Amino acid sequence: MKAFMCHSQGFPTLMLLVLCSMFLFLLVATPEREVSEVSPLLLKLFSNPQSSPGSAQMLRSIPEFEWESALELEKKRFLALQTPAHPTASTRHPLEVVYSDGYKFRLNEPDKCQKISPFLVLFVITEPQDIAKREAIRKTWGNESSVPGVSILRLFLTGLHPRFGSPLQNLLEEESSIYRDIVQQDFLDTYNNLTLKTLMGMEWISKFCPNASYVMKADSDIFLNVEYLVSQLLHPHLPPKKDYMTGYIYRNTKPIRSKAYKWYVPREVYPNDTYPPYCGGPGYVLSGDLAQKIYQVAQTIRIINMEDSFIGICLHKLGISVTDSPWGLFNVYKITYEKCRFSKVVVVHHFGPEELLQIWPNFQDQNETCKS
Ligand SMILES: *[C@@H]1O[C@H](CO)[C@@H](O)[C@H](O)[C@H]1NC(C)=O
Ligand SMILES: *[C@@H]1O[C@H](CO)[C@@H](O)[C@H](O)[C@H]1NC(C)=O
Ligand SMILES: *[C@@H]1O[C@H](CO)[C@@H](O)[C@H](O)[C@H]1NC(C)=O
Ligand SMILES: *[C@@H]1O[C@H](CO)[C@@H](O)[C@H](O)[C@H]1NC(C)=O
Ligand SMILES: *[C@@H]1O[C@H](CO)[C@@H](O)[C@H](O)[C@H]1NC(C)=O
Repeated sequence: MKAFMCHSQGFPTLMLLVLCSMFLFLLVATPEREVSEVSPLLLKLFSNPQSSPGSAQMLRSIPEFEWESALELEKKRFLALQTPAHPTASTRHPLEVVYSDGYKFRLNEPDKCQKISPFLVLFVITEPQDIAKREAIRKTWGNESSVPGVSILRLFLTGLHPRFGSPLQNLLEEESSIYRDIVQQDFLDTYNNLTLKTLMGMEWISKFCPNASYVMKADSDIFLNVEYLVSQLLHPHLPPKKDYMTGYIYRNTKPIRSKAYKWYVPREVYPNDTYPPYCGGPGYVLSGDLAQKIYQVAQTIRIINMEDSFIGICLHKLGISVTDSPWGLFNVYKITYEKCRFSKVVVVHHFGPEELLQIWPNFQDQNETCKS
């Protein structure tokens, strides 16, 4: 059926991809279906990324949100309105992140910290359709019992898919009811809204888990050595640090002013020529008290679309400095896997789900010893 639809002639390819994807989502997530019928299907489809090339391909084919078309839309809307009711909204740059009214939780786990005070809350940034990535992370570095005697809480943060919000929501709710590890708010999950996802994490700490000692923000495409993070930087036997944040530190970097890049930050959004020091987005760690302070200060300043630089701006506003970590622990570039090297790093960027699952048994294997 898919082959038939995708090979019919006369439609623009993009349109066909969208139609095919939509059709398949509806096939999987038709609301009339019994939950008991969907559940095994979901698990079969997504528990092993290699076993479902069709669905993986389908998920990759979803076009990304383009701010330029948003700009066009915004312009048209502006011209259509003779007397705009909300001139500030109509003239707002489409990359300016809207935060004023706050967002509502669609999926939440409000009771996770009732009985325990986690030592480390691991926030993993994913998009609603990243089912295979979440599966791989749960089985590898996202395992909550990876460090004996240390309580770790893993939560995936997500927003609403900009195009397939409602068919995907059924799948996401199903996944959430199985694993109870997804937190979602009702903003559109786009690259330029990433800051909202991090702030949702800070809000979650402030409202539901103020007793967490540390918080790690992790992208879904990294290798993370939680054991080394805990033993080398966080020291569970010591009282938790205050006003602490560390990672791969960028200093004196400039906003990218070219529209050709996905990291484009217009002057209207952030006017200064440099950013304050900040920790690179793929993975950084902070103390629980600082997470709450960031949430508070974010209510008072303009939110920019670069998530990691924005956290640096919050720290600048708070008058708190980032803390250097020993060289080489946080790697924003890819390093080829090597067991002994990886046993002495915290983060390595650019690891997809297949590669993570592939290296993990070797990384876990205690037989081979590494020189210290
Ligand atoms: C942690 O904080 C939450 C929210 O304030 C509270 O309800 C809970 O009892 C605390 N948990 C522990 C173990 O202290
Ligand atoms: C998590 O780690 C524990 C302890 O090593 C192990 O028993 C368990 O099977 C792991 N869970 C997953 C989902 O891999
Ligand atoms: C961010 O999310 C809001 C709320 O859903 C939405 O109105 C806005 O268009 C999104 N912004 C971008 C740049 O995607
Ligand atoms: C931006 O520049 C102004 C003027 O130099 C300065 O007062 C402010 O602290 C800067 N903000 C950041 C976030 O660096
Ligand atoms: C580790 O060594 C033991 C004893 O030599 C062996 O039985 C076991 O299979 C090894 N484990 C792995 C994962 O290679």
